[in-house]
Amino acid sequence: MAIRKAGKTLTGRNLVSIFDLADGEIQSLFGLADEMAKSKGRNKICDDKILATLFYEPSTRTRFSFEAAMLRLGGGVISCADVQSSSVAKGETLADTVRILSAYADLMVIRHPLEGSARVAADYAEIPVINAGDGPHEHPTQTLLDLYTIRREKGRIAGVNVALVGDLKHGRTAHSLAYGLARFGGKLTCVAPEGLEMPADILARLARDYSLQPEFYHSLGDFISGPGQFAPRGDKLVLTEEVLRRIDVIYVTRVQKERFNSPQEFEAAKGSYAVTLDLLRRARPDTLIMHPLPRVDELSYEIDADPRAAYFRQAAYGLPVRMALLAAILGKHKIKSEIAATQLKAVDLTTAGMRCPNPRCITTSEHYLRAKFLPVASAPDKATCYYCDQEATVNVSLE
Ligand code: CP
Repeated sequence: MAIRKAGKTLTGRNLVSIFDLADGEIQSLFGLADEMAKSKGRNKICDDKILATLFYEPSTRTRFSFEAAMLRLGGGVISCADVQSSSVAKGETLADTVRILSAYADLMVIRHPLEGSARVAADYAEIPVINAGDGPHEHPTQTLLDLYTIRREKGRIAGVNVALVGDLKHGRTAHSLAYGLARFGGKLTCVAPEGLEMPADILARLARDYSLQPEFYHSLGDFISGPGQFAPRGDKLVLTEEVLRRIDVIYVTRVQKERFNSPQEFEAAKGSYAVTLDLLRRARPDTLIMHPLPRVDELSYEIDADPRAAYFRQAAYGLPVRMALLAAILGKHKIKSEIAATQLKAVDLTTAGMRCPNPRCITTSEHYLRAKFLPVASAPDKATCYYCDQEATVNVSLE
């Protein structure tokens, strides 16, 4: 049995998935982020704390904003510029690395290319762990700042129609945000090129748990054909101008080059969509353009000066949101917990011969890990991997 840590407040809690935070806890964090944005951390409430940042993948925004947040709160940061300059290069496991860092820091932020890695870190570390992205799986603090941006700029999340545009198959920010929007009553439109659609298990969970049925399109339409030349291709899966005018937020993601199985697959997908000045001319005057960044070629530089281009403001909101999260987890601001202490009952199916079917799951590379699964209440023959959430068919009882 796995027990997710929970007490009377957020103090000491892990944040591995956006589901590790209850709705009320997220709202309280947003209130605290508003305070942090005003005070800019003038009171150095974390001056006795150290943050460790452990990044196995590149980052600009997430890593620098977490480190800046800790410094603004008066705390210290330990890190290494390249994890290959640490003893990871000598073959040290994830479990041992996080156990060692637990002796040196009070809280850890981890990014790793494999799905479920942050759950492993949380299980083996003796300090709280925040997931800064585990492969294509989740990026919960990006979702916090995305929801915070929508709340700040639109005044609400409920009823806001967000078009997720781009590589929805591999984009972890899109996955976590879809769940976040569903929980707060947002509406969802998915615009993804063929082959890069939102994974079926995420859509199934949105429908099952939130009755959320997104609209689907494959293309933004031929908005790049020149001024005044809007020319939808007659394909019913092209997003039309009429649909565009119902959208409150266009949330664009890049084609995730590093997640493709072959360069040929990436070449076929790249450059297949872009938000341009021409599209903005046809959007409503209050439609926000968001992007978790970095961008490649899917956001024209021409739109940067338009007040609807919110992506640099969005990245900036990451600082107060992460300050709030650090202060709450380190016990410097008490946010009431709304999550029960025992939530997860994972069953070890290693001896039954089960393996997680996901080739990107952390269990494929960290061989001390057991094959642990969680039951799916509505389907007795299904279970989800405890680490990466991948659904699998089981032929043994999980009772
Ligand atoms: N949005 C985001 O995660 O950016 P980085 O990869 O630069 O951290």
